[in-house]
Amino acid sequence: MMNFGVELGTIELRSPLIAAAGTVGSVHDFADVDAFRVYGAAVAKSVSHEPWPGRSAPRMAPVGPGMLNSIGIQNPGIDEWRSGMPELSSLPVPVWGSAVGADPGEFALVAKGLSAAGVRAVEVNLSCPNLEEGTMFALNPTAAASVVGAVRAATDLPIGAKLSPNSEDIVAVARAVVAAGADFVVLANTVWGLGIDLDTRQPKISGIVGGYSGPPVKPIALRCVWEVAAALDVPIVGCGGIRSGEDVIEYFLAGASAVELGSIHFAEPRAGKRILREIDDWCRRQGIVSLGDLTGGAHG
Ligand SMILES: Cc1cc2nc3c(=O)[nH]c(=O)nc-3n(C[C@H](O)[C@H](O)[C@H](O)COP(=O)(O)O)c2cc1C
Repeated sequence: MMNFGVELGTIELRSPLIAAAGTVGSVHDFADVDAFRVYGAAVAKSVSHEPWPGRSAPRMAPVGPGMLNSIGIQNPGIDEWRSGMPELSSLPVPVWGSAVGADPGEFALVAKGLSAAGVRAVEVNLSCPNLEEGTMFALNPTAAASVVGAVRAATDLPIGAKLSPNSEDIVAVARAVVAAGADFVVLANTVWGLGIDLDTRQPKISGIVGGYSGPPVKPIALRCVWEVAAALDVPIVGCGGIRSGEDVIEYFLAGASAVELGSIHFAEPRAGKRILREIDDWCRRQGIVSLGDLTGGAHG
C-alpha cells in the first residue's frame, strides 16, 4: 500500500482518516479498538465541564439514506471522563478530545482537562444543534471566535474549530475562528433535519429537530470545504457522508487535507480499512503518490 501520511498544518497524520466525534464513543470503548490502526486520529465524544444528561429517547432514527440524532451531548463531565479513560498512549491511535460548553469559560476548562489527559489535539465543537437552549456558537462569527479565543488561552495543543453547515456564512465564521487562534477547521457537523413517524404521527426523535448525517449531507459539507478553501489559507478536515475512498478523494480535491468518518461506523465499524484500500486503488490507477498533492486540486 502507498504511504498515506498527510499534513494538517503542523500536525502529521499517518493516515488521512480520522474517526469523528460521537461515532466511536470515548474511543477506547469502540466496538473494535484494533480497527483504529488505519486511522490518523480518533476524536472522542464531546465532553463538557459538568455532566450533561442528554435528551430522552428516541434519540436516533434512520431518515432516508441518512441518520437523524438528538443525543444532546450526553457525557459524564470532564473529571469523570478523565477517570474512566485508560492511558491514552496505550491506544493504537492518537486520540483527540472534543470540547463543548455553555460559555467560553466552560470550553476553556474542558480544554485544560483534555490537555491534562494527554489528547493530541482539541476540537472545539461549536456546532452541536442539540443544546437545550438552542444555542449554536457556530452561527455567529463573534460568538465562535470568543470560544476559540478562550480555548487558545487554555491550551498549547493544536485546536480545530468544528463548524456548522447551518451557518449563513461559513467563510465569515471560519475567518473569525482562525483569527482567534484555531489551527484548523472541521467542515462540518450535522445538518438540521426532521423526520415524522407515520405510525405515531409524531417527530421521530424527542428533540424534534436533530442533526442529520450520512450520505445525503456530503454535497453540503463538500460545499463548505470548497468555500472556505477558496477564501482562506487554513488546513481543513472534511466531514460528512463519507462512505468510500472516492468520497475521500472528492473532499481532498475540494480543499481538505484530511477527512473524518462519522455515522458509517454504526453500520460498518471497520469501514476505515476498506476505505483506505479504495483510496490506494484509486491513487495507483491515477499515478498519485502523495495524497497531499490532491488538496484543492479542483480549484481551477
Ligand atoms: C450519533 C451521533 C453522535 C454525534 N456526536 C457528536 C459529538 O459528540 N460531537 C461532535 O462534534 N459531533 C458529533 N456528531 C457529528 C459527527 O461527528 C459528524 O460530524 C457528522 O455525523 C457528519 O459526518 P457523517 O455524515 O460521516 O456522519 C455525532 C453524530 C452522530 C450520528
